[in-house]
Amino acid sequence: MPNITIISASVRRGRNSHRVALYLKRFIEERNLATAEILDLQSFNFPVFDERLQYLPSPDPGVLDFAGKIRSAEGVIIVTPEYNGGYPASLKNVIDLLTNDWRRKPVAISTVSDGSFGGTQVITSIQFTLWKIKAWTVPAMFPVPKVSEAFSSEGIPADPETTDKRALGFINELLWCIKAHSMMDKN
Ligand SMILES: Cc1cc2nc3c(=O)[nH]c(=O)nc-3n(C[C@H](O)[C@H](O)[C@H](O)COP(=O)(O)O)c2cc1C
Repeated sequence: MPNITIISASVRRGRNSHRVALYLKRFIEERNLATAEILDLQSFNFPVFDERLQYLPSPDPGVLDFAGKIRSAEGVIIVTPEYNGGYPASLKNVIDLLTNDWRRKPVAISTVSDGSFGGTQVITSIQFTLWKIKAWTVPAMFPVPKVSEAFSSEGIPADPETTDKRALGFINELLWCIKAHSMMDKN
């Protein structure tokens, strides 16, 4: 079974996009689509980036833990809020931290907002950054508008039928990329 790592990018106190990370993890596990683990950037509480991992003389154990989990993940889902039309500093912090570990990594992006547009303005900037770092961004979207109405704090969707249908399309696209990736020479 493939292993998927979900990055929950918001570190804001009172954050709501974490609900989507909880939902996606449960969705994946309940259907035995993959194993799924959440890397919660709020829990990691990383300092502001000051150098890439490969150049850190004595990296923090949390950094090594994070890096190891990204390295071993066959696919990554990023759940990101939209802040002023972009993605949060906490997410840039960890993208810049790693270099080769992102290369050819299948990454699917879920954008989240409390407004009506589901954070769709953030998709272009996060896609561009991931392309620059040579990740393999999956051509599927999972935008979540009005997140606090759409999901409970435990990640239970208000409209399970529609949400699950959208989630399945999103995850299936990531699974296809993981499968295609595994058939190719990874070097
Ligand atoms: C600094 C800041 C900027 C924001 N900018 C936007 C924005 O540009 N567009 C939008 O739809 N929502 C914006 N929001 C609202 C977020 O979409 C909302 O907080 C949502 O719940 C996702 O972020 P969270 O996980 O931090 O809660 C902003 C929130 C903050 C804290």
